[in-house]
Amino acid sequence: MDSKECSFVILISGRGSNMRSIVTRMAKSSGPRRGKVCAVISNNPDANGLKWANDQGIETCVVNHHDYPNRDLFDKRLAETIEKYQPDYILLAGFMRILTAEFVRKFQGKIINIHPSLLPSFPGLHTHQKAIDSGVLWHGCTVHLVTADLDAGPIIAQAAVPVLPEDDANTLSERVLSVEHQLYSEVVEGLIQGLISISGVNKIQVAQGVKTTFYKESNNVVHV
Ligand code: GAR
Repeated sequence: MDSKECSFVILISGRGSNMRSIVTRMAKSSGPRRGKVCAVISNNPDANGLKWANDQGIETCVVNHHDYPNRDLFDKRLAETIEKYQPDYILLAGFMRILTAEFVRKFQGKIINIHPSLLPSFPGLHTHQKAIDSGVLWHGCTVHLVTADLDAGPIIAQAAVPVLPEDDANTLSERVLSVEHQLYSEVVEGLIQGLISISGVNKIQVAQGVKTTFYKESNNVVHV
């Protein structure tokens, strides 16, 4: 690998809007190091994000979980597919499969996920409805390292948005998604430039001055 290049494989299951914002941000970077997305891989052959990635000239690949009798065999095939690209990092961007401990061990310190809640609150699914039901006033998203425990790895960055009285899960998810796009693409830029790095056993290092938290006060104003 060129030491000035940081490479990624992105895993998606659907729309792929986080993937789009990461790829778009990467193309705009003026930093000294370049980022490269080697491939976008999906477990879902109908994932809308695959077409967009193809249109950008990014290699795409499907490892359909329905083709495998169990999680172990699916993850084994997924790992083999990823290893062909030897990426520096694997980005989960709306990848809706739980990864086995063996898969996580194989790529320890290299798998990063975005989760639509302020972890450790609301792991798992239906995070926006859970936030509304619980009565919290702030909700948001978390970029974290993936470990064998679901949505529980070390936190790299978080962004918060208010929960408004009139919100339903849809309006709240849109507000969160807009900060997801900003947060994840900034973390990826930090990884590319070496300002955010992972060392030892899942130890995150962030260079001084790099912002890993922000919040959105209304639908339009982002304070960083
Ligand atoms: C995003 O909100 C992401 O945080 C969430 O799925 C959505 C994917 O949207 N991920 C999870 O829930 C993972 N547990 P996208 O495909 O448009 O990026």
